[in-house]
Amino acid sequence: MSVVSACPGHASAYLARAAITAPSLHNTQPWRFVAHGDRGIELHAVAERGLPLADPLGREMVLGCGAALLNIRLAMLHLGFRPLVDTFPDPQDLAHLATVGWGAYTRPTPEEQRLYAALGRRHTAHGPFLPQAPPAGLLEELREQVRREGAELHVVDDSADRRRLAELVRAGEDAHRTDARLAAEQAGWTWRLARPRDDGVPADVGVLHPDCTTLAGRDYAGLTGMFPTPPRRWPARTGLVVLLGTDRDDLAAWLRAGQALERMLLQAAAHGVMAAFHTQPLEVPHLRKRIRQTLTAGQYPQMVLRLGHPPCVRSLPRRPVTDVLG
Ligand SMILES: Cc1cc2nc3c(=O)[nH]c(=O)nc-3n(C[C@H](O)[C@H](O)[C@H](O)COP(=O)(O)O)c2cc1C
Repeated sequence: MSVVSACPGHASAYLARAAITAPSLHNTQPWRFVAHGDRGIELHAVAERGLPLADPLGREMVLGCGAALLNIRLAMLHLGFRPLVDTFPDPQDLAHLATVGWGAYTRPTPEEQRLYAALGRRHTAHGPFLPQAPPAGLLEELREQVRREGAELHVVDDSADRRRLAELVRAGEDAHRTDARLAAEQAGWTWRLARPRDDGVPADVGVLHPDCTTLAGRDYAGLTGMFPTPPRRWPARTGLVVLLGTDRDDLAAWLRAGQALERMLLQAAAHGVMAAFHTQPLEVPHLRKRIRQTLTAGQYPQMVLRLGHPPCVRSLPRRPVTDVLG
């Protein structure tokens, strides 16, 4: 008797524990899992945990869920079973993103083991990176990981392109800071130390001014209201700048992009390299269109990232597995 049929509840909890380490916009954790014993586990998107103003179509919500799906696949492989992924199994219920069944026994490859082992190491970075450069060859590895999930990595290394991207991120961030409704939506997912939560982002998640890097950060602490300009900039510590693109822009493409994102984040984390996210311009349709026209060769941009060695990382809380697994 396999471990799965002997204790299917334990196995599902094991998969869900891996899944919830995934990144999600403002740590909304927009997922829910349904255990089917030795038949597998379902992944559902939870619309109530979405951001109707910043992400009205749920693109970023599905990206986060795609990252959780990659983690389920890795956890199943780690237990020695091939994941059988059925995406959008119910045409009447598109929030049911995937069912992952237990396939034949298999031995995980060293690479699958390495990615699984990186689940606990991966955290989102905020602010400038250390001067230490990411390892040579990392970008090629990431390109390959992303490709395997059906997406493309676009490296922004040309200085004019970087400047253009910085302007678009700036414009996206300004839109968030000046639009009271968008700012309120983000504030609703931000908490103060005195009132900790198991979802959302602590206001002090980035200890430095959000404008101290060449790509502007989200102003979770509301610092720019008090200090409109940063005391100092670290332009040389931007790190590698990459965009994730897909050929299509529908639910299936977003779910693929989420898996590609997590795969590259874990590959990077295995080298001690973390990602800072700058998705503000992707939430403003005309800015996203500009990125598509000028920086991703017509592909739909799904993610804007900087990669490097952060001075420190912080592990953000997650809702307990018992709250997300039914
Ligand atoms: C689709 C998506 C968009 C994100 N956009 C941003 C962003 O613009 N700025 C940011 O600081 N973090 C962004 N994040 C990262 C989340 O804030 C982070 O994943 C979450 O707070 C949980 O923290 P962790 O990744 O360290 O576990 C994004 C994550 C996802 C999946």
